[in-house]
Amino acid sequence: MTVEPGTRVLKACTGPDVAETAEAIRAAAACLKAGGLVAFPTETVYGLGADACHGEAIARLYAAKGRPAFNPLIAHVSDVAAARQLAVFDTEAEKLAAAFWPGPLTLVLPKRPDCPVAALALAGLDSIAIRVPSHRTARALLAAFGGPVVAPSANRSGHVSPTTPAHVLADLRGRIDLILDDGPCAVGVESTIVALLGAPTLLRPGGLPREDIERVLGHALVTPAPSDTDDAPKKLEVISPGMLASHYAPKARVRLEATSPREGEALLAFGAAPAFDGTVLNLSPRGDLIEAAANLFSHLRALDASGATAIAVMPVPHDGLGDAINDRLSRAAAPKP
Ligand code: TXA
Ligand code: MG
Repeated sequence: MTVEPGTRVLKACTGPDVAETAEAIRAAAACLKAGGLVAFPTETVYGLGADACHGEAIARLYAAKGRPAFNPLIAHVSDVAAARQLAVFDTEAEKLAAAFWPGPLTLVLPKRPDCPVAALALAGLDSIAIRVPSHRTARALLAAFGGPVVAPSANRSGHVSPTTPAHVLADLRGRIDLILDDGPCAVGVESTIVALLGAPTLLRPGGLPREDIERVLGHALVTPAPSDTDDAPKKLEVISPGMLASHYAPKARVRLEATSPREGEALLAFGAAPAFDGTVLNLSPRGDLIEAAANLFSHLRALDASGATAIAVMPVPHDGLGDAINDRLSRAAAPKP
């Protein structure tokens, strides 16, 4: 890993110096490959990018943003062919992709079983949000990196989205590795998000007007009641109850704050684990919350698949990413409807 003390700012595509631009893109792609965090411009807002398949990089990304919970991230890819590797496209998805990609539209689609994106980036959901940005620097970075890049807006959680490198620096200086500077963003508001998991639903109005989308679909989009949170999955949950909540809920009963596992349980450990005969997976033997966040969803699923009737979870501290981890664990432990 290459987390450096400072945040480097590299000029990209700002002038006639083609060599400087190419070097900046190369450095940014190498940084992503090493698990680093790179802010880059898109046509909507600056995104904070990480390798979508690198669980620890994604955990670090949540920590850098100070996200209170693991809100799922948008996977950015070069083209629709790359998007089809991640998600299942039906006729309407194909229509919208053909009409609006590259551009400020994000589609939420069923993820493919072999989708390589880290479970943490998807917050454990079976759907995935994907977009193909049109910005030249975003496209150059995606081409050089050669894989999906998850990128939330490059601001601290709760702040407004950044549309210039200066905004990014103001929020994230010293917390991320690199910023690609290509001046201000053209659109300035985030992408429009449409879920295609049932009736096409507008989850977030954004840079692409809904009328344009409805014209291509030939019918209106479902609009969930406005909510004061910026939590798109919550809106989906309102229109299709349980669809999302269930993915935080293993079949096995979940027992929190467990200090010693019982007969028949599987153990989800954190830090030094007690000796135990049953199945044990450790979120982070060295007690590192970033590592623990990266392992959370995959370990829960694996223990559930082990056939144990209950999963005993050792206490996880509440500082840093611990808050989000405990939030997800308490959802997993909540009584099933
Ligand atoms: O314009 C944009 O979309 C910018 C640029 C950087 O691409 N990105 C952006 O990301 O705005 P973010 O993380 O700030 O917002 C992504 C939204 C969140 O509200 C999240 O809940 C929602 O997308 N989302 C992601 N995956 C989802 C899923 N599987 N189902 C429902 N909503 C999802
Ligand atoms: Mg945001």
